[in-house]
Amino acid sequence: MSGAPARRPGWSLQKQAGRTFLITGATSGIGREAAFALASAGARVVLAGRSPEKLAATAAAIGQSHPGAELERLVIDLASLDSVRAAGADAQRLGQIDVLVNNAGLMGGTGRSVDGLDLMAQTNHFAPFLFTGLLLPQLLQGERPRVVNVASLAHLLVRRAHVGDPYRRRREPQLRSYGRTKLANLLTTLELQRRSDRAGLGVLATAAHPGVAATNLLHNGREIADGSRAARLLDAALAGTTQSAAAGAAPTLVAATADLPGGSYVGPDGFLALRGRPVVQRPSRAARNEASAAALWDLSERVVGLSWP
Ligand SMILES: NC(=O)c1ccc[n+]([C@@H]2O[C@H](COP(=O)([O-])OP(=O)(O)OC[C@H]3O[C@@H](n4cnc5c(N)ncnc54)[C@H](OP(=O)(O)O)[C@@H]3O)[C@@H](O)[C@H]2O)c1
Repeated sequence: MSGAPARRPGWSLQKQAGRTFLITGATSGIGREAAFALASAGARVVLAGRSPEKLAATAAAIGQSHPGAELERLVIDLASLDSVRAAGADAQRLGQIDVLVNNAGLMGGTGRSVDGLDLMAQTNHFAPFLFTGLLLPQLLQGERPRVVNVASLAHLLVRRAHVGDPYRRRREPQLRSYGRTKLANLLTTLELQRRSDRAGLGVLATAAHPGVAATNLLHNGREIADGSRAARLLDAALAGTTQSAAAGAAPTLVAATADLPGGSYVGPDGFLALRGRPVVQRPSRAARNEASAAALWDLSERVVGLSWP
């Protein structure tokens, strides 16, 4: 954590009838838990994911627990910008979207996307940046549009954002590269809020992190066997502090539904923010750097070929 005192939002999940939430990565872990919770609160939930089979299975499971749940499915593979563009076009059938939750993410690996970008950077930052821009007109149809980006404590591993060549992975431990993508999520959240305010769009941008939660991401995390001090610390943290995926989804649900100021960042209140109840926290100094955020935004627009808002 970044040292600033946490503030408690005093939150519980209210009824969400009449509101539409689109969640990426809704087929596993935190996204799946958030989809269950929002469906149980009466929201229309758009399950977005790369596997049609997993989307069908998730929709069936939610429908079984919550008969009458209003569910939609949207196929999107963040590893392909063409797939993101196709999903943006397909999403038009859904009409107004009140809250977009950019949750899908990847931790580890050194592969490249079909677009030639570092796969982790594309999955965690560039593709969600494009998707958010494409969905903006549908978000603006509502009165209280909101964009939630799911970041990570790992952003603290990066003291300064280097907005460099997105086609080249820096020589550094994989966990730091992951932290870099999550720092990008926070920079983007705060920059979106500034741009929305300047343009009078009324979009609320928030971010969340789950601490450390037992999801499929951790299997990827364990594959980061680079022997670095950060990786050893991660292993120790996982062994001693992991909380359930449902508990890990709580900060996301707060960031998506609670009455919060723009730019709020929500995470667990326990030791080192690894677990606990959701509270508003302060992102790192690097995440609050406005020059880095503006440079990242400009670079992202060039990379994905879309200028917005
Ligand atoms: N778990 C933690 O302790 C932790 C800590 C900090 C931050 N986070 C963040 O929390 C978010 C959710 O992760 P999780 O922990 O719930 O992990 P998870 O169980 O692995 O879920 C990740 C989701 O992202 C989807 N996804 C991955 N690559 C994708 C792609 N190319 N296109 C579309 N969807 C893709 C996965 O789809 P499939 O189901 O098809 O695999 C899955 O639904 C991530 O942004 C992660 O960085 C998690």
